[in-house]
Amino acid sequence: MSAGPKIPPDLAATIVDPLAFGAWQPLLDAYATLRREAPIALAEIPGYRPFWVVTRHADILKISKDNTTFLNNPATVVLAPIMAEMFVSHLMNGSPHLVKSLVQMDAPEHPKYRRLTQDWFMPANLKTIETNIRTIAKASVDKMLAMGNECDFARDVASMYPLHVVMELLGVPESDEPLMLKLTQELFGGQDPDLNRTRAVQMSAEDAAKIMAQTVADFNAYFEAMAQDRRTNPRQDLATIIATGMIDGAPIPDYESAGYYTIVATAGHDTTSASTAGAMWALAQDPDQFAKVKADRTLLPGLIEEAIRWTTPVQHFMRTVATDTEVGGIAMKAGDWLMLCYISGNYDESVFPEPERFDATRSPNRHIAFGSGAHQCLGLHLARLEMKILFEELLDRLDSVELAGEPKRSQSTFVGGPKTLPLRFKAA
Ligand code: HEM
Repeated sequence: MSAGPKIPPDLAATIVDPLAFGAWQPLLDAYATLRREAPIALAEIPGYRPFWVVTRHADILKISKDNTTFLNNPATVVLAPIMAEMFVSHLMNGSPHLVKSLVQMDAPEHPKYRRLTQDWFMPANLKTIETNIRTIAKASVDKMLAMGNECDFARDVASMYPLHVVMELLGVPESDEPLMLKLTQELFGGQDPDLNRTRAVQMSAEDAAKIMAQTVADFNAYFEAMAQDRRTNPRQDLATIIATGMIDGAPIPDYESAGYYTIVATAGHDTTSASTAGAMWALAQDPDQFAKVKADRTLLPGLIEEAIRWTTPVQHFMRTVATDTEVGGIAMKAGDWLMLCYISGNYDESVFPEPERFDATRSPNRHIAFGSGAHQCLGLHLARLEMKILFEELLDRLDSVELAGEPKRSQSTFVGGPKTLPLRFKAA
């Protein structure tokens, strides 16, 4: 590990503390201090391998775009304690990953796998499923209005709608959606006692990794059966494209196809749920912005980008340095591990004036919530489309919205966002 500026222990502890993610403001304050005083610096935290923490927008972008110097495959791409890394390596015969999906791959393997579904996720193909998505959006709004004039928007609407969309696209039957939701929340919410598999408030790193491995095994079993089914009974769905995909002239192996399904199924809904709830949170706090967007739908794309920036559902990814290099005047050595802090990049005051303010008219809005470079989010057009359609339907049918209680964010360092959003509303 290279030597370099070090992050004071209290700040280092904050940026890996799930409670700080739940509380939010302490996290934003810690990132602001780091951007100002130590934009790339080492975190030495008991129980973790040391890693570089990258907090400025420009540096995160530069590293994300250089997929030769900064790799995904050599180490875990989501921050994990040493004990968890050791447990996974032992379980997986030396591999640092429980799941092998696009985010765990580098070139030359990564582009081959990404190419299998790339066209499917492009706007031209998404046009063909727009009507389907609108039907699901309308049903979600019907359900919300049928609840009277109050709901928990995060739980009742925002978490169910993208789940239903992605499962339908993938070809998972509706009856299995609760299982998919549960497994995804276990995967992303492992640190949150309301979401993890055992509802434990505290767990050792090894126990957390063991429980995570059980969740992944459940996903694998489910998706391996689905791949088998699509190979024998091909359909017009994304699951069939993955199951029948060929890599270097051979069928995609079971482990990789299960990983592919898992990333689409999981990345495809909790993230979009979080930014959908984030958009509603902002509107419920600001009746003027609600009225403006309701009256002028050309503001909708801006509202959606701002909600994605403001919420930043994917909160970090890790990279490993492939060859000695330098970023922002800091020398890094091959093998160094680093953390891309997307929330911090999206609250960087040198790019976003008044970053904590939600402004649906913010322009330009160069947020990095979808990452950048070879791994840039494959589902970004789908996420935007889903949110646009839902808010078109919501704005047509709602006259006003306001908070009916204090929203809560999930206590998670990886994927997060509002987990409860008590809302009072008046139908149009
Ligand atoms: C607001 C919603 C979403 C956000 C904020 C988000 C964010 C991200 C981020 C930050 C990455 C990693 C980028 C990087 O390393 O540079 C990523 C990758 C990915 N996302 Fe999303 N995502 C969202 C929605 C979706 C949806 C709806 C899908 C699919 C149904 C999806 C599928 C994927 C996949 C497959 C990858 C891996 C791409 C690769 O490694 O080549 N995401 N996403």
